[in-house]
Amino acid sequence: MPLSNAQMRDVQSVLHPYTNLVKFRETGPMIIERGQGVRVYDEHGKDYIEAMAGLWCTALGWGDNELAETAAEQMKKLAFGHLFGGKSHEPAIALAEKLKEIAPFPVGKVFFANSGSEANDTQVKLAWYASNARGLTKKKKILSRTKAYHGVTLASASLTGLANNHRSFDLPFDFARFAECPHYYHGAEPGESEMQFSARMGANLEALILAEGPDTIAAMIAEPVMGAGGVIVPPEGYFDQVVRVLEKHGIPLIDDEVITGFGRTGNWFGATTYGFEPESMSIAKALSSAYLPISAVLLSPELSDIVEQESGRIGTFGHGFTYSGHPVAAAVALKTIEIYQRRDLVGHVRHVAPLFQKRLRALADHPLVGEAVGVGLIGAIELVADKKTKTNFEPAKQAGATFGNFAQDEGLIVRPLLGDRIALCPPLVITEEEIGELFDRLERTLAKSLDWATREKLIAA
Ligand SMILES: Cc1ncc(COP(=O)(O)O)c(C=O)c1O
Repeated sequence: MPLSNAQMRDVQSVLHPYTNLVKFRETGPMIIERGQGVRVYDEHGKDYIEAMAGLWCTALGWGDNELAETAAEQMKKLAFGHLFGGKSHEPAIALAEKLKEIAPFPVGKVFFANSGSEANDTQVKLAWYASNARGLTKKKKILSRTKAYHGVTLASASLTGLANNHRSFDLPFDFARFAECPHYYHGAEPGESEMQFSARMGANLEALILAEGPDTIAAMIAEPVMGAGGVIVPPEGYFDQVVRVLEKHGIPLIDDEVITGFGRTGNWFGATTYGFEPESMSIAKALSSAYLPISAVLLSPELSDIVEQESGRIGTFGHGFTYSGHPVAAAVALKTIEIYQRRDLVGHVRHVAPLFQKRLRALADHPLVGEAVGVGLIGAIELVADKKTKTNFEPAKQAGATFGNFAQDEGLIVRPLLGDRIALCPPLVITEEEIGELFDRLERTLAKSLDWATREKLIAA
């Protein structure tokens, strides 16, 4: 199909994230015009179930008037206000208080930023600031994991464990170190149980810490469920092992809840689902249901105190963004949390997640599906060329991207990730009926994909 006028204007002017910009000149963008509930509509009026909640973010779906009205009211009352040098405003204060109230660990103070990347860059700076404040000036390395996703700014991209975020950007910086990705499906040895695999991950983490020197490591950062790296759900006992090893060596845990925060895994936070207490936490995305950009770092009382003391010693806490705690974004985030509580969204997730997981796991029987995993309202399937040997398609065959295109034809938006893993992360407000429709469309997509793979002779006989 020739490109529409809007598509041509786009191709000539917009530099798109995460896009092969050469190929894109031929295909152009899919232009989304509007959204309502769990659906979005393209420029031709075709409807799609948005099974990724955008970028794992619009928990309330599209078209929530209460949020739109809150933004408009706040914009009329105080369109901008900042938190530098002692200024403040009610939306930022009330939001910080609310976050302290709902956090799954004791929180001293809350720092506001605008994106998950900024929150995680802030985490790195806080870890270094705290090490210097304690006189532990060698303690600067941050542990992350292969396939982790923590963002794209210089520090957070350094902690992201994906080659495409490093290649040609001269990253990662030298402070980042990577432990293994705890992917049981591919990483387990024959006959190894999940608990045994987790114990091995724990032992390997400890070996890495000892090789680097515990006195050189300022923190470890981890997503409860690894998102953009492929929706890697932690195997049984994994976080118990991580916490045991970190505690033994006095290394704080930074919990990146940018995707898992606010109900995604069936609890308010992933830390509760996996039973750990971090030293600090990054949140974004569902914090405002993505209606406006806002993120936050929640600091333990001890970390808050040390940051406060160091700012007193050197004269200031020299960090902050113009839009840190922006009043309109803060008011919308506060209203978002009020809506989550009023509608008992976490209760709703618990109610509908069993159906979501049942339909998801049933896909494991399909000839193209190697793994079908998830927790709460997040999950993924992995497309494989050979189920028995767990062999992936050659990347050049673009199996994931092809699946994504077939899905779009069926009126379904999913996200193909590295290794042909197809992510699902629908708005948390999704109903059982809509979950049924989502998986009906997904099953039709799988059938088309199987025809394609058979025609192209890509699958094992
Ligand atoms: C776990 C996690 N951390 C951080 C980020 C970065 O957030 P942002 O894109 O808002 O910078 C993301 C984005 O997907 C994420 O999934």
